Amino acid sequence: IPVDNFDLVIFGGTGDLARRKILPGLFRRFISGQMPEEARIIGAARSDMSVDDYRVMIRDAVHEFDPASAKHKDCLERFLGQLGYVAVDAMGEGGWKELHAEMRENTVRAFYFSVAPSLFGAIAERLKSFGLADDQSRIVVEKPFGKDLETAKKLNRSLSEHFDESQIYRIDHYLGKETVQNLMAVRFGNMLFEPLWNSQYVDHIQITVAETVGVGGRGSYYDTSGAMRDMVQNHLMQLLCLIAMEPPAKFDPDAVRDEKLKVIRALDPVEPHHIVRGQYAASEKTPSYRADVENARSFTESFIAMRCQISNWRWAGTPFYLRTGKRMKARTSEIAVVFKDAPHSIFGPEAGYHRNVLSIRLQPNEGMTLGVTIKEPGPGGMRLVDVPLDMTFAEALGPDAEEVPDAYERLIMDVIRGNQTLFMRGDEVEAAWRWTDPIIEGWQRRNDVPKEYDTGSTGPDDALMLMHRDGRRWREIKE
Ligand code: BG6
Repeated sequence: IPVDNFDLVIFGGTGDLARRKILPGLFRRFISGQMPEEARIIGAARSDMSVDDYRVMIRDAVHEFDPASAKHKDCLERFLGQLGYVAVDAMGEGGWKELHAEMRENTVRAFYFSVAPSLFGAIAERLKSFGLADDQSRIVVEKPFGKDLETAKKLNRSLSEHFDESQIYRIDHYLGKETVQNLMAVRFGNMLFEPLWNSQYVDHIQITVAETVGVGGRGSYYDTSGAMRDMVQNHLMQLLCLIAMEPPAKFDPDAVRDEKLKVIRALDPVEPHHIVRGQYAASEKTPSYRADVENARSFTESFIAMRCQISNWRWAGTPFYLRTGKRMKARTSEIAVVFKDAPHSIFGPEAGYHRNVLSIRLQPNEGMTLGVTIKEPGPGGMRLVDVPLDMTFAEALGPDAEEVPDAYERLIMDVIRGNQTLFMRGDEVEAAWRWTDPIIEGWQRRNDVPKEYDTGSTGPDDALMLMHRDGRRWREIKE
């Protein structure tokens, strides 16, 4: 469905995220006919640059980051025709009047803050004082949303001085991933799963987000952040919330976000011996974490595994194991709901050990698999085997299914539609920091040193122990 006409200003319009994700994403929506021909996208950044030069920059970006779409040549030229550019001084006065002159009346106005959080307040203030934004305008902010509770509160305050919560869209791009939304569809659109979705039937839940990349060129940011702040406080926490939350009464923004907030508030503090931190070592081809961040004494973690507990009626007694890391064996993100054993095996001990596992794959090969135990075919008696009931979305929905949109393109369109369901509310972000802060402070107090792990591995051995101690095993990390 095409969206309303809009003007979208991207602060940081020449930056990495804009070139890599935001503009290629918008272009894909343009190709699929979802972007009105009159919609305007205005890049705003510090450098003086002509509109033509900006268009060249974005054409190159689309070619580099989305070569498949770049093949739609005519389309791309029309899309570029809808781009504008204004040089703006975020902390000063320059460029704001020019930017105002570019905006039109009677359209949705959205402002994307793809800039350092230290600029959020200054930009929000100028949007109001120069009359660019009104009570209907929307602002979009990127992570990191603070580095602890205090800084997050400060950011929330500086935004809420000028904008109402209903106008603020805090992006967590994991919420825009197709399978993440499917998680809600599967849980609340079927009768099959929800009755079993509790500690009576679920033994434990594993959430793995493994990456093969290192910290790349983001060393100076990452070394002050680490996996806990970069991934757990936001992406993994959101996945945990969607798995664990109670059914909202409606699929509407506040109903969903209220339920997620209750989960975060019910999380127990995590004991230090339930956490394993790691740092990747050098391999033959790739540098070590410390070399990547150019800090020979860095104690920041590029891997973390932890055992969490949600203290409420539904989940008391069912541990949630989370793990994420860089330079691991394969790029894979999976949520696995591991069900308990049947209470009694009528087939005797020789039938072996079998468990149902619902695996929800975020990437690659988005889909779900339910492991079911059946009889092994043949005359050899009652031998049991586990077989997958597989639903890979691309296969199940066939070639006619619409291509799975990238998280960013979906989320930006949600901003234009005014749908906040897949965005984090201010109190949610603060609650997540309230849980995270004492964990990080504990490491600092104890001078905790992360364990080294091999590039291409599954993380430090201690992470395996975290599970083995409980008589459980991590699932394999494979593409
Ligand atoms: C970002 C983190 O939010 O998510 C990165 O800052 C990480 O460190 C990225 O690599 C992972 O996103 P995706 O969509 O590639 O799984």
